[in-house]
Amino acid sequence: MPPTRRLSSSLRLLLFLLMITVTGLVIVYRPTISDIKSSPYILPSTWQSMPIPIPPGIDELSPKEKALAIKQIHYAAKVETKFRPNPNWGGRDHGREDYKYYSENELRKLAVCMATDTCRQNQTSVIILGHIFNHFHIYEGYMGGEGIWTASLIETLSKWGYTILHARDDWIYMWYLYNQIPDMVKGIIAWRTGQFGTFEEQMKTGRRANGIPAWQFFVYNYFPDHYTSIVGDAWNMHSEFGYSQHQRNFTFIPYVVEPATIPPYIPASQRPNQVYILAKFVRYFYPGAQPAWEDRGIFLRAKEILEKEFPGFEFVVGCRDDRNAGQQEEVPMELPPGIRNLGQMDKVEFERQLANSRVMLGIGWPTLSPSPHVALSLGIPFISPFSMHGWSSLDDPETWASSQHHTLKTLTEPYVYHVLRGNETQFIDAIRKALSTPIEPFILPLMTRDHHEKQVNKWLNTDWKAKAAKILENRKNGKETENGNEIGEFTL
Ligand SMILES: *[C@@H]1O[C@H](CO)[C@@H](O)[C@H](O)[C@H]1NC(C)=O
Ligand SMILES: *[C@@H]1O[C@H](CO)[C@@H](O)[C@H](O)[C@H]1NC(C)=O
Ligand SMILES: *[C@@H]1O[C@H](CO)[C@@H](O)[C@H](O)[C@H]1NC(C)=O
Repeated sequence: MPPTRRLSSSLRLLLFLLMITVTGLVIVYRPTISDIKSSPYILPSTWQSMPIPIPPGIDELSPKEKALAIKQIHYAAKVETKFRPNPNWGGRDHGREDYKYYSENELRKLAVCMATDTCRQNQTSVIILGHIFNHFHIYEGYMGGEGIWTASLIETLSKWGYTILHARDDWIYMWYLYNQIPDMVKGIIAWRTGQFGTFEEQMKTGRRANGIPAWQFFVYNYFPDHYTSIVGDAWNMHSEFGYSQHQRNFTFIPYVVEPATIPPYIPASQRPNQVYILAKFVRYFYPGAQPAWEDRGIFLRAKEILEKEFPGFEFVVGCRDDRNAGQQEEVPMELPPGIRNLGQMDKVEFERQLANSRVMLGIGWPTLSPSPHVALSLGIPFISPFSMHGWSSLDDPETWASSQHHTLKTLTEPYVYHVLRGNETQFIDAIRKALSTPIEPFILPLMTRDHHEKQVNKWLNTDWKAKAAKILENRKNGKETENGNEIGEFTL
């Protein structure tokens, strides 16, 4: 056979096979193709009768707000059918766009409510959350102090119907959001720097008229001693009150410490003689974390003394080694003898174990943690190590060199036992006294839901622009009223 004829015959065979395959495919897939015809996308009239899910929480709204919310959800649903509800932004290819998608969804809701006259009372007031710890809480479930604070703030703002936008710590995006709706933004909570740009780069100035005005930016830090705002002291926002006899004029918004309901409250007399050590990581017992008692033998020695007086006495902790494998091999760290490890626990399990204890013991780190507040709310006294300068006075906690919990310096026995770091006698005495002096559940008035809501309300309803204008005018005239280290000129 000549080569051309051989080619054409094999081509014919190929074409024949192809035809068979295509016919087969059509037969196999025909039912699916006809299925698509009845899908909501091809027949738009059907989606209009689809039930629209009403989110939980709506029943708690006032009748007026509830009616608006339900109407609005119906309007918004018509828009949302053409937006994917949960796009997958993960992975390296697209970066992490989850916070942008969330915010843009909220902006669409704003547009819908304005166009249809269904905005709730506070909906057109917008708060931008731009602190990385806000983001870690919202998108990664971070529940350290800042995470707990973020949860409290979001709960209150949502209950009141404010619009919350997410911005990671992305200053370029904060500028972008702000610039679309400058008159609706009530405030931005963030730190001055972030992974994407800094506040200074986006700040309103004489030459950058569309920048973010400094008076709308609240510099957040959980701890109460930063003076980081350009405008003034009250633009520094924090979650723990700390301790000071002088009024400091920061914006203090506490997180909420709830009365014990879940898990159920067990009266102290029915709990085992269990001392809960506050330490999430084993390294808190070792140099580097500056433990309050460097001699790790103290726990076993105390246990041997105290178990004679308190049957079944135990030190417990819920901790793990969070260091990498190399570090763990290089410097092995074990829990000091005399302590039982309950292992890593989630929030509910932690509170259940805590509720089954009679004392919470601090060993120096972490400082200003929410946990001692939670302990007190469960009727559990806190042992808080502190240290003194040569010139410190025992009676004046403000003069102390350090304390594991500055806010709780305001409390004394039988709620909080302040014991000198490194002092073994005071260590054992405090545990003994705390075990034999039960307390009722107690929440510092500063940390109650009432006070939290009062503070959020005050923040939302302050005329920050007027306040800033006065400060600025004074500043330009050489009269400084603020104490910050970073204060400077800004544009209103
Ligand atoms: C609107 O916000 C204020 C606080 O600024 C709050 O007191 C009020 O209850 C909120 N309105 C509604 C309907 O929740
Ligand atoms: C706090 O504000 C008040 C009222 O403006 C002022 O009198 C006081 O000096 C301020 N305190 C500090 C520490 O700046
Ligand atoms: C430890 O505390 C006890 C009791 O308060 C006190 O008598 C003792 O001097 C302290 N020891 C040190 C080294 O400070």
